[in-house]
Amino acid sequence: MDFNEVINNRRSARLFTDENISNKQIEKILESGCVAPSARNRQPWKFYILNDEQKNHIMDMLFEWDKFNSKKRFSVKGTAEQIKTANKMIMIYSDSYKSKAKNKNYKKPDYISLGCAIENMSLQAINLGLGSCILCDTLYIENEIDEYLGINDFEQICGFIIGSPIYNYPPKTKKHLKELLLN
Ligand SMILES: Cc1cc2nc3c(=O)[nH]c(=O)nc-3n(C[C@H](O)[C@H](O)[C@H](O)COP(=O)(O)O)c2cc1C
Repeated sequence: MDFNEVINNRRSARLFTDENISNKQIEKILESGCVAPSARNRQPWKFYILNDEQKNHIMDMLFEWDKFNSKKRFSVKGTAEQIKTANKMIMIYSDSYKSKAKNKNYKKPDYISLGCAIENMSLQAINLGLGSCILCDTLYIENEIDEYLGINDFEQICGFIIGSPIYNYPPKTKKHLKELLLN
């Protein structure tokens, strides 16, 4: 796929077919994350590939949280619904928070590095004819997820779902560059 096509075709996929994603595709997506730039080449990313049972459990935890915490204009139900049809889900962690980054100046650069890796993964998914979505709503139940997965030493950044997408919504309007220039 042409480079500009990959960038312009990237959308957050919210509904997926039941097509299986191969381990090779997952590996390729993760490897694309691993070659991203990172501050001082710290490569602060860590990945937890969920099995079906774990994915469904986290989805149920989000539905449960939503029951008691959703408000009129705020709900994580949509995110839980997205997890339902996604073929694979990966939890993305940072290893800088508790272990390496005693130095507070590492914090922002490491978040930026993680963003670079995650965008690489999103673009590789498009390149492979797949769709993905970054999910930060998992952070509402961050402690519960980490406890369930037995993760103690890493900081949860987001969930990342992958599948064969059904793009059933209109093009998203993006701000024009002119609105964004500060000078
Ligand atoms: C850091 C980050 C966190 C996000 N978290 C969620 C989420 O929890 N649930 C969700 O449905 N979408 C989530 N998204 C997807 C955004 O809603 C989406 O990127 C935005 O609406 C723009 O749409 P597009 O990606 O199709 O261009 C997240 C995106 C980013 C970059």
